[in-house]
Amino acid sequence: MARKFGETEMAPRTAAYFEKLSQGKFDLDWFENTKTEWGVRVQPTKRGVLLNDINVGSYGEVPEHSLPGTGMAPRGAELDADLPSLGYRLNNKYEVWSVNAASLYEEAKTRQWNATTDIPWHELRQLPEDLERAMCQVCTLLTEVEFIAADLPAKWMHQIHQNYHEVKCFLASQVIDEARHLEVFRKRALVNGGGLMRATKEAEDALQAIIEAPTYSMASSFMHVLGEGMVLSLFRAGELIGKTDVDKRIFRMCMQDEARHVSYGTMHLKYYLENHPNPRAAREEVNHILSKGEGMMLAMFGVPEFLEPLMILAGGGIEGMKDAKPAVGGIWQKMVHEYFGRCDRAGVSERRQLCRLPAQLPM
Ligand SMILES: [Fe+2]
Ligand SMILES: [Fe+2]
Repeated sequence: MARKFGETEMAPRTAAYFEKLSQGKFDLDWFENTKTEWGVRVQPTKRGVLLNDINVGSYGEVPEHSLPGTGMAPRGAELDADLPSLGYRLNNKYEVWSVNAASLYEEAKTRQWNATTDIPWHELRQLPEDLERAMCQVCTLLTEVEFIAADLPAKWMHQIHQNYHEVKCFLASQVIDEARHLEVFRKRALVNGGGLMRATKEAEDALQAIIEAPTYSMASSFMHVLGEGMVLSLFRAGELIGKTDVDKRIFRMCMQDEARHVSYGTMHLKYYLENHPNPRAAREEVNHILSKGEGMMLAMFGVPEFLEPLMILAGGGIEGMKDAKPAVGGIWQKMVHEYFGRCDRAGVSERRQLCRLPAQLPM
């Protein structure tokens, strides 16, 4: 007869174990017979113990292919038989890996900042209305795009096999980075007497295409390499478009986070193309999504709601818009130029020929 604990019926193994314990015996099979690698030792350094430091012996062997039916058992543990499948769909290393994921995760932890207290909000001074409106329009768009940058990794993270925990950790750090970014831009829009401005259909269409990209690597190429890459270039122009020290600081703080996300995506794309079992199909798929993405980025950025606030900010006011065209054109050129650099590093330098983004804006 099955034994009960209160009202709870015990599983046979549990019942047998308690029977043993009540007879004064222990099991200790886990203690004596676990077949994992024993005796590893990691020397902590001045930096502590990095995630990469514990990749020693067999623990550092990241499988090329993982079995889906291994629950959430950590890489290197001995696995019980009959573990449940938790529905992980990204079970191949090439689908998610990036050689810098662990080090970017370490960097993310040491460079966290707080949008509540690390921005000297009290130093923000009143701006002329045209500059404030322009900054608020920029912040509206940036708040929007930060949502996708948090939702996209969150959408795919739980589908990544636990053997690739370095990537899961990095993506978790990206989610918190992006939460802070949407927070800081929303705060900036509201804190200085302005408010949120206009969300455009073109921007929302692009974000929809990212979240609906059919595979993780396509989504990552579109978002990390192309979309966030262009936003990173925009943050780099923060000295030109930020009109107060507070605004410049916001752009600088976000820039260092953004560089990590772009770096992960660039190195993931490289790994994907170099390790995919069908490299030709992989390259076609990536070029397809990047062509589509470039078209959508041009639509998203080629609107008055994006270009005109930049002209007002770079020109020092609505009067200076005309004179600021070359400066804003220069920001665009940099966005495209830096994108090509990342494509080269990822191994898709054919984007230089195939790209749908004009090197110069016709303005
Ligand atoms: Fe961001
Ligand atoms: Fe980002």
